[in-house]
Amino acid sequence: MSQLSDTILVTGGAGFIGSNFVLSWIAAVGSPVVNLDALTYAGNPANLTPLDSDGRHVFVRGDICDTELVASLLREHRPRAVVHFAAESHVDRSIVSPESFIRTNVMGTGCLLEQARVYWNGLDEAGRKRLRFLHVSTDEVYGTLGPDDPAFCETTAYAPNSPYAASKAGSDHLARAYFHTFGLPVLTTNCSNNYGPFQFPEKLIPLMILNALEGKALPVYGDGKNVRDWLFVEDHCAAIRAVLERGQAGETYNIGGNSEKTNIDVVTGICDVVDEMRPGPGRSRRSLITYVADRPGHDRRYAIDAGKISRELGWKPAEGFERGLRKTVKWYLENAAWVDSVRTGAYREWIAKNYAERQGLEARD
Ligand code: NAD
Ligand code: TYD
Repeated sequence: MSQLSDTILVTGGAGFIGSNFVLSWIAAVGSPVVNLDALTYAGNPANLTPLDSDGRHVFVRGDICDTELVASLLREHRPRAVVHFAAESHVDRSIVSPESFIRTNVMGTGCLLEQARVYWNGLDEAGRKRLRFLHVSTDEVYGTLGPDDPAFCETTAYAPNSPYAASKAGSDHLARAYFHTFGLPVLTTNCSNNYGPFQFPEKLIPLMILNALEGKALPVYGDGKNVRDWLFVEDHCAAIRAVLERGQAGETYNIGGNSEKTNIDVVTGICDVVDEMRPGPGRSRRSLITYVADRPGHDRRYAIDAGKISRELGWKPAEGFERGLRKTVKWYLENAAWVDSVRTGAYREWIAKNYAERQGLEARD
């Protein structure tokens, strides 16, 4: 008998991917979740409203850097796994103020790993074998690709370019070290850009959907030809469940949608879907596209080779980009109250700050 419960400890479960993960975990697996989230600007407990009276979900507002709190949650709930999403996640914010990225992504991950190690050390043999620490990371740690370069695989060298990517790379290195030095059963996933319900509207896809709907300018950085490899968030959640259940401790798994798109193609696609679902007066929303000053150090292309997780764990994305995008636009159209609740004064300040200097500048090409 292991001393572990069936509970999992999720961090950052009130954010975009974390809340999708918690909802789909309760639906697909059904075992209890303790959800530790600091509720920064990106965290929204309303994402988890369907679980309000569900005893399987325990929400704890707190910081992953709080050693005592993390230790007590592990002692009290004896989880069989830690699934670690909590992070500062927006590249543009990491350029304006990197400190919180270093604190949460590096120090916070370090705190979790260390408390997980102490907990794991105190388990019996069955428990030590069973425990998993799943560290959720990004493809941005690999840096940028040229147009003909092969996609990122698990052995691609790390070359992070933004403070966000560098802080995630630091956390990945800590996760790796805790496996190699201490034997803590850590797994790391590096995923490409996600999109879908509950994404905070500072990121490309939800920002463009809402601006298109409201007839505002659609600010495309640089020449709009940067490429991202898009994955519907539910597919990411399914991949994480597969890694948790069947992945091998100490391994890393790249996750991607096999769906490379230039930013301008994504934005024109959004315009067309919004035009179709909410016909506006007069011209197509494409006329709102405005090229603005580029992001400093802007990575040109990301692409994921998801061959390993497909071969070894049998995971493949279920959603194609066009259908996933339609579902996402529909969700934002139908959830105006959610949108209103997240577009607070602080949100409007961020938007003003990020775009004030960019607006009206021409693309570099
Ligand atoms: P998000 O910004 O939407 O959510 C982050 C969550 O973490 C929020 O709920 C926030 O309140 C919480 N949080 C932040 N600092 C915290 C702290 N110190 N203590 C406790 N909670 C804290 O992020 P997301 O887009 O859902 O990303 C989740 C994870 O997935 C991140 O680790 C990110 O690096 C990774 N990832 C994201 C993408 C993407 O496209 N969004 C792609 C690959 C990997
Ligand atoms: P983003 O959603 O911030 O994700 P990431 O930087 O992690 O890839 O941006 C996706 C792409 O869209 C990226 O190349 C930057 C670009 N972008 C714009 O062109 N305009 C915008 O207003 C935003 C937020 C992003």
